[in-house]
Amino acid sequence: MTETIPSVRGMRDVLFADASRLSHIESVFRLVLEAYSYEEIRTPIVEYEQLFKRGLGESTDAVAKEMYRFLDRDEKWLALRPEGTAAVVRAAIQKNLCYDDRPRLWYMGPMFRYERPQAGRYRQFQHVGAEILGLDDPLSDFELIQIVTDVCSELGISDCVQLHINSIGSSDARALYRNKLVDALQPVSHLLDSDSQTRLTMNPLRILDSKVPATQEILREAPKLMDSLSVESKKRFDKVLNLLEKANIRYKLDHRLVRGLDYYTDTVFEWIGMGVGAQDALCAGGRYDGLTTLLGGKPTPGVGFAAGIERIALLHEQLHEIERSSTDIYVVAMEESHQQYALEVAQLLRSRSDIRVRQHVGQGKIKTKLRWADRSGATWVLILGDNEQRDRTVTLKWLRTKRTQETIPLSDLLTTLYTKLEF
Ligand code: HAM
Repeated sequence: MTETIPSVRGMRDVLFADASRLSHIESVFRLVLEAYSYEEIRTPIVEYEQLFKRGLGESTDAVAKEMYRFLDRDEKWLALRPEGTAAVVRAAIQKNLCYDDRPRLWYMGPMFRYERPQAGRYRQFQHVGAEILGLDDPLSDFELIQIVTDVCSELGISDCVQLHINSIGSSDARALYRNKLVDALQPVSHLLDSDSQTRLTMNPLRILDSKVPATQEILREAPKLMDSLSVESKKRFDKVLNLLEKANIRYKLDHRLVRGLDYYTDTVFEWIGMGVGAQDALCAGGRYDGLTTLLGGKPTPGVGFAAGIERIALLHEQLHEIERSSTDIYVVAMEESHQQYALEVAQLLRSRSDIRVRQHVGQGKIKTKLRWADRSGATWVLILGDNEQRDRTVTLKWLRTKRTQETIPLSDLLTTLYTKLEF
């Protein structure tokens, strides 16, 4: 027998109820973002790798270790996008979006990172993200947090997520702090975990992110990033916190939150899910006022977030059941000669967008057809034979609890479904 071909490691097939759950979460994001009048943007999945090297930083894990890169037939280095922000900013520069306008954009789509797969961490995963370009008012940071807060409440997961927030200041303040941190950690570097030892030369701020208890202990004595921030950065951050307090949005000040991408400035935030395992960051973002300049555009402030839809689904699954979106009514023609009538009936039902109708395809005994109807999960089966076709009626059989059956005129079908059967 020929060998079968599996899916690529870390890239999953998502089926039935799991797919319905992802769609549900995505549609809640879409509805909320549209209510805030964000406009959709779709950028390509493939970009020049230079975009991410420059935008996210060459030494970040997303670029140095995890990026899917390849040479195309023109010998150009391309990359599968590891995230959406750099591409949105690239598009805004290319399409002149930020100069006359202050766009508020949202996007959705697959991202790719060559990470070690585990629950909640995949090599292809789905983001819904939003970006505001051209506004540096703290109100814009707040608006994005408010959007995610609304989404969590709409999804019924608010009680199980916690907003962590920090300010990492300007790049100058961070450079100053980086030196202080390296000076403080160098003498005890042998006590740090091995990842943090590498980061001490590559990306020292990421050491603050370490989950290793021994490293956390050492960090307790290390200088604090907040102490290196400028007066303006501190004031700005206070305004964001103030807005959150006024809106009753609970947050946790997390001075060790630094984020893994280099473009961030000032406010950074992350929503942590409770009880979802090691991959507990469900959504994250922050301000990136230097990114447009890094990518060759005129200086334009920016702020945004991206939500990991699969991780939100893991939390949602623990709290809410979701129905597999499939069939309500299964339409069966007794013989081939009844097929045309069956098509007409199915189309009539489909004219109501809330009824999901599957028509039986293929010949065979009626018993087999009814077995397929049962397997489809449908609540009702419509059976159409000689009598029904002649009298323009339908035989409606309840497949679930009652299993009763009645024949009604086609003209009464919709009213019967909605009123008598409380569809
Ligand atoms: P990020 O923190 O790298 O930020 O990704 C955002 C979210 O994507 C994470 O919080 C997590 O839920 C999800 N995620 C990341 N990696 C994986 C993975 N391997 N498998 C499953 N889910 C994952 C960004 O990408 C920024 N672009 C966010 C942003 C937008 N900042 C400003 N604007």
